[in-house]
Amino acid sequence: MVLTPISEAVNSGRQYLPALTTHTPSPNQCLLPLTAQVNSQDHLEIGGCDITNLIAQFGSPLYVLDEQTLRTACRQYRQAFEQYYPGESQVIYASKAWNCIAICAIVASEGLGLDVVSGGELYTALQAGVNPETIYLHGNNKSVDELHFAVEQGCTIVVDNWLELKTLAAWQPSEPLHNGRAKRPIPIMLRLTPGIECHTHDYIRTGSIDSKFGFDPQQLEPVFEFVSQQPTLECVGLHAHIGSQIFELQPHYDLGAVMVQWFSKAAQYGLSMQVLDIGGGLGIRYTESDDPPSIEDWVKGVCAGIVQACESLLLPLPKLISEPGRSLIGPACVTAYTTGSQKVVPDIRTYVTVDGGMSDNPRPITYQSVYRAVLANRMSAEITEQVTIAGKHCESGDIVIKNAQLPQIHPGDVLVVMATGAYNYSMASNYNRLARPAAVLVSDGDASLILQRETYQDLVRQDCLPERLTKEG
Ligand code: LLP
Repeated sequence: MVLTPISEAVNSGRQYLPALTTHTPSPNQCLLPLTAQVNSQDHLEIGGCDITNLIAQFGSPLYVLDEQTLRTACRQYRQAFEQYYPGESQVIYASKAWNCIAICAIVASEGLGLDVVSGGELYTALQAGVNPETIYLHGNNKSVDELHFAVEQGCTIVVDNWLELKTLAAWQPSEPLHNGRAKRPIPIMLRLTPGIECHTHDYIRTGSIDSKFGFDPQQLEPVFEFVSQQPTLECVGLHAHIGSQIFELQPHYDLGAVMVQWFSKAAQYGLSMQVLDIGGGLGIRYTESDDPPSIEDWVKGVCAGIVQACESLLLPLPKLISEPGRSLIGPACVTAYTTGSQKVVPDIRTYVTVDGGMSDNPRPITYQSVYRAVLANRMSAEITEQVTIAGKHCESGDIVIKNAQLPQIHPGDVLVVMATGAYNYSMASNYNRLARPAAVLVSDGDASLILQRETYQDLVRQDCLPERLTKEG
């Protein structure tokens, strides 16, 4: 990897370039993708592509996804599990972070499985050619159709509640199968609420007892008993997920120990489980003050917790599954906007508006998430201003970055917001009937569309005009 060396104490967009070191950094500790550099025109380049050229070619705003960063993160997870876990392991991509055909295909080609949470995500993964046996269906209110779709494909169902458990148990094996892949008995895992607290935003914390997800640990014994009596279900393991954007190692370390204890409890009901899924949750760097552990350190901590717990209970090591989403895809992508109008509110602030906002990145308005940006067409320009980057939506809260430190901005500049790969496109909307941006995959100077920009025609595609409202009707 060739990176532009960073001069000391740069007070410009260059400060966010990945550090020039002999070993590849953990992508989740970098603000810009690993291939980011500044070219001779002082423009930001990612994957060998000048961002200003990408905007000229594909339009604005634009998601730019760096293939090398995504593949590096996949490999770092897999290699770390191979190094630190003596048993079998599997990394599955939590595709809710960004589910589209190209991304599913890339992660599957790196040997990862997939976590899907809806029929739509499952359908997309299948269109990408992902082996259904490596797909796990999650969700706290799966429809009967979604359950049947996944079972018919041979996916594993991560059962969240009694209704789902009973629906699956009651599914008659005589029902016709569409493709013959369905397995008998149906492979399931049980999702538990582990009661482990972590420090993250309330909306993305899922492991505490007051959570809508999973079985309460108090109810576990009747669940184990019921499952043990179902010949059509094969309970292969247990699942828990404690939350997202977590920087501490301890909660995941504790989680392993708690889950191993439940394994031994399940054994008392004759359930011999082989799989332990500890969910996702590793955080990423959105600002220079964020300090997440590296992928390697996170995996090392998780594995140590489980190995120690198994040793102390004299249990064999289970197959260990982890489900990272954000830390795989988040750092691999940036969003490039074109700047427009500015408004100076004397003695208060200056607003600089971009051509997108909460429709392509709803995280600031939803979770008060903080991002950093660089001026992609003047990467070395000195940072002299504090401005608020506003979106173009009819909503005062549509602020992309409050109090951003940037060089002076002119209309038509290209502003790149960093680390936007996770939960941006996947949570995007058409608010104010804005068309969703395109996404390009960049690698070695090549830029390929992976998501087309929506058109006005796309926006009205689902609209229907009842006949009685037409002139003729
Ligand atoms: N497994 C399960 C069961 C999950 O619910 C999630 C995320 C993951 C894995 C992946 O977690 P990650 O590695 O990405 O932290 N929209 C929010 C995040 C919601 C997370 C939902 N579940 C955000 O933009 O911050």
